[in-house]
Amino acid sequence: VGDLGPADLEGKRVLVRADLNVPLDDSQNITDDTRIRAAIPTIKYLLSNGAKVILTSHLGRPKGVTPKFSLAPLVPRLSELLGIQVQKADDVIGPEVEKLVAALPNGAVLLLENVRFYKEEEKNEPEFAKKLAALADLYVNDAFGTAHRAHASTEGVTNFLKPSVAGFLLQKELDYLDGAVSNPKRPFAAIVGGSKVSSKIGVIESLLEKCDILLLGGGMIFTFYKAQGLSVGSSLVEEDKLELATSLLAKAKEKGVSLLLPSDVVIADKFAPDANSQTVAASAIPDGWMGLDIGPDSVATFNAALETTQTIIWNGPMGVFEFDKFAVGTEAVAKKLAELSKKGVTTIIGGGDSVAAVEKVGVADVMSHISTGGGASLELLEGKQLPGVVALDEAVTVGSVTV
Ligand code: 3PG
Repeated sequence: VGDLGPADLEGKRVLVRADLNVPLDDSQNITDDTRIRAAIPTIKYLLSNGAKVILTSHLGRPKGVTPKFSLAPLVPRLSELLGIQVQKADDVIGPEVEKLVAALPNGAVLLLENVRFYKEEEKNEPEFAKKLAALADLYVNDAFGTAHRAHASTEGVTNFLKPSVAGFLLQKELDYLDGAVSNPKRPFAAIVGGSKVSSKIGVIESLLEKCDILLLGGGMIFTFYKAQGLSVGSSLVEEDKLELATSLLAKAKEKGVSLLLPSDVVIADKFAPDANSQTVAASAIPDGWMGLDIGPDSVATFNAALETTQTIIWNGPMGVFEFDKFAVGTEAVAKKLAELSKKGVTTIIGGGDSVAAVEKVGVADVMSHISTGGGASLELLEGKQLPGVVALDEAVTVGSVTV
């Protein structure tokens, strides 16, 4: 079918599903506008080709109509970034919305109210999806962060609105988190961290099929140490995952993946920002102490391994980086990736806490790709199909995407 160009868009009503689920503080100020900024290129492209954009998103997890989950606080920032005044509807469907859509000029944006104010959204009720679809002539899904949800505005609507296509952001996320990871420039290293191995089992198993080097950090390493018979003091351990840890180590060997666990750790006498700390070998954690970060020898070994690569995916922090004292390992990884990215290595930050770490260090701009998805990134990295993507027509995107 090809790309959607000017001829397809002039005067057309385009329903754009974005993920504008941004954090707000108690005064309803946006504390991180990344997701809004990420949604702008697709909207601008549609506007510049004369389309009428009907923008829909969820915010939070409201149970019914809840004023504090209104999308109203997003309007000023959206308007500023788009350079036009965005109109806002007080509803998602219904006669008032229909009137606003009918009066919408070419090149204008109407933001619908929080789509989760209708319980039919998460239930993916066809009647609701049909009403959403009836507002527009075509559908663009750019909500990567919500693509793992089979909801009315991400999946159901595609049954009633053709064509249904991917926006630039969704396409870019797929190009990196699926394309570059499944077909990487080698050597390909994956860095997986986070506190629990249980939440990363699928990701590790899937990456073991694809990567050449796997670096593990974060709280999950203590489950691996314990599985190897090391004493871990009072570090976090998932006792019911010891066998799994052993089998993951065996699988790495079988696949010829070089799996590196940290050789030294920074330990603390309590879980607190002001805890006493010391660096010890991973095999020498005393009783009563817990590991909260990887140590300098591990950083050096990880860096040396990363130096050899052409593609790196990172998901999950190396330690408790919310506490400055235990953020050193995570920050070192962020800095190394920034350095390698500048040298042409493809660096992909796979969502969640690693994104926060990269932003904290101030190196977000130099990475090849920073995912806007949390759960969606994990599911994609696990090799799962995302319902919001599966539902789209194949081989159609808005414009031509170059990454
Ligand atoms: C997210 O923040 O991960 C997405 O916006 C999806 O939100 P949800 O987990 O409430 O579906």
